[in-house]
Amino acid sequence: MTNKISITLSTTRKEKPQADQLEFGRVFTDHMFIMDYSVEKGWHDPRIVPYQPISLSPSTMVFHYGQTVFEGLKAYRTKENKVLLFRPDQNMQRLNLSNDRLCIPRIDEEFVIDALKQLVDIDKEWIPTAEGTSLYIRPFIIPTEYYLGVAPSKYYRFMIILSPVGSYYKEGIHPVKIFVENKYVRAVDGGTGKAKTGGNYASSLKAQEEAEKRGYSQVLWLDGVEKMYIEEVGSMNIFFKINGEVITPALNGSILEGVTRKSIIQLLKHWGVPVSERRLSMEEVYQAYKEGLLEESFGTGTAAVISPIGEFFYNDEKLVINNGETGEISKKLYDTLTGIQTGTHDDVFNWVVEV
Ligand code: COI
Repeated sequence: MTNKISITLSTTRKEKPQADQLEFGRVFTDHMFIMDYSVEKGWHDPRIVPYQPISLSPSTMVFHYGQTVFEGLKAYRTKENKVLLFRPDQNMQRLNLSNDRLCIPRIDEEFVIDALKQLVDIDKEWIPTAEGTSLYIRPFIIPTEYYLGVAPSKYYRFMIILSPVGSYYKEGIHPVKIFVENKYVRAVDGGTGKAKTGGNYASSLKAQEEAEKRGYSQVLWLDGVEKMYIEEVGSMNIFFKINGEVITPALNGSILEGVTRKSIIQLLKHWGVPVSERRLSMEEVYQAYKEGLLEESFGTGTAAVISPIGEFFYNDEKLVINNGETGEISKKLYDTLTGIQTGTHDDVFNWVVEV
């Protein structure tokens, strides 16, 4: 796509939140990126405009059958005032993978990364610098045809919005408590589990609500057939350290292919820590716990970063891990990853891209 991006700057500037009041995804910056798709024109009319509500007819397909995809990545400001993005190419590749699954036309990955850089540059004053904060970038695509038939839309809108954020969980960097879900399932082989589509998250809400009532932050999803094998947490992938080895469920088509997950595996291999991606049952984790071999567990995700897990609720039993405290490998991974992302740690893998 060779379209030039038109830029209309906002004539007013919103007040920025205090760093210590930042939550996840509640406040948005002054501008946003939009482009539209039609069969005749392809993706066209790319523009950066003031952040504002959009108007859609009630018959717009986005309101009916959930044909949506999204991504999440972050921008950081370094001490030297440079703006860094973490592996944006990986997010754009995954966006196209989700597009394919949801019958949405592919985007030009390089063009979108360039658009994203221009948008972040315009709103760079919004990037918070306090420890644990960043600018969350949310690209997403919605179907915009006015039609009630169940079919892929003929029109789409791609948008990018930006939100200064603090930590995703109210626990911050302290360990979270996770409920091992044995009633509801998130995804099955052949379904949309691997795509980043709204429906996966809608279907997780009931389980999440029930877990929260019992004092747990999120649920751990098991496979959709036997409810035995570990999949993911929904807003993050999951890792266990058992008897010196770090294990994460292998990608099986129903697990989201996390960019942080992939980066953590690369880091662990680089350090020479034994790491494997394989099928892992909750029963195996439980046995390891009983034998005192379950040393640590943590979740990984763009929003969640590295989130240590202090407790699982499994079959009416509380499994407390590492005395409910952050483990050594979780801490080292958090420090290294956030160090690379914020430019204070050597970027040995060339993951970081300057805006
Ligand atoms: C992310 O980590 O960016 C995610 O997409 C998780 C999200 C649903 C909050």
